[in-house]
Amino acid sequence: MEIRYFENREELYAAASKHFEQAVANGARTFGLATGGTMEPLYENLRNSDVDFSAATSFNLDEYAGIPKQSEHSYYTYMHEQLFNAKPFAQSFVPVGDVDDLAAAAREYEALLQANERDIQLLGVGENGHIAFNEPGTAFDSETHVIALTPSTREANARFFSSLDEVPTHAVTMGIASILQAKEIVLIACGENKRPAMEALVDGTVTVDVPVSVLNNHPNVVIYTDLKLPVAVK
Ligand code: GLP
Repeated sequence: MEIRYFENREELYAAASKHFEQAVANGARTFGLATGGTMEPLYENLRNSDVDFSAATSFNLDEYAGIPKQSEHSYYTYMHEQLFNAKPFAQSFVPVGDVDDLAAAAREYEALLQANERDIQLLGVGENGHIAFNEPGTAFDSETHVIALTPSTREANARFFSSLDEVPTHAVTMGIASILQAKEIVLIACGENKRPAMEALVDGTVTVDVPVSVLNNHPNVVIYTDLKLPVAVK
């Protein structure tokens, strides 16, 4: 696990953007993408860069259940506004959230993932340590599945909706096993509200109670953060 600490967020996002530009230049063609406020400056940099994703394929981590893709609140819309409209991929996949049989759709999405190993998986982290929408307690061998969002996650994401009531109660998410299949994982964590989760990660104790801690089991993780984290003494 390599921690790249930046006091200055502009520099952090410039470096993270370069990471992706370089990866494409070096032949990476399959990307796992993430949503959330954390990713917006990264996508802005990529939109304004020369990066060319037209030969690449992307798979998003998750989507709210019950939200049609055309909705302003869907991650499908987020990705188009943040990245795909400006930088189209050859193919982009975002889990579908508004089908009758969500579990079947999740299985289909997992089959697509199994056929397309990700070169890089981009990740953010929730305040409670969730990755994608894998909430605390999610099994490490989980594949794409439907999950009930915790009250704290719904509250954290209420800022993107007009009220807490509007925030969906469920989501479909890549599982932890699906995420860990990527050859490289790039995690971005900014802001003091992410400190408890990040300190639990660098502490090195792997526990389902803090899903992000599972990254200790992955051989190739790069973290971009503006948090000065204690280095674990083993
Ligand atoms: C959401 C997403 C996650 C994201 C997290 C943090 O719940 N499902 O993929 O990492 O929130 O979001 P933010 O970057 O807005 O803090």
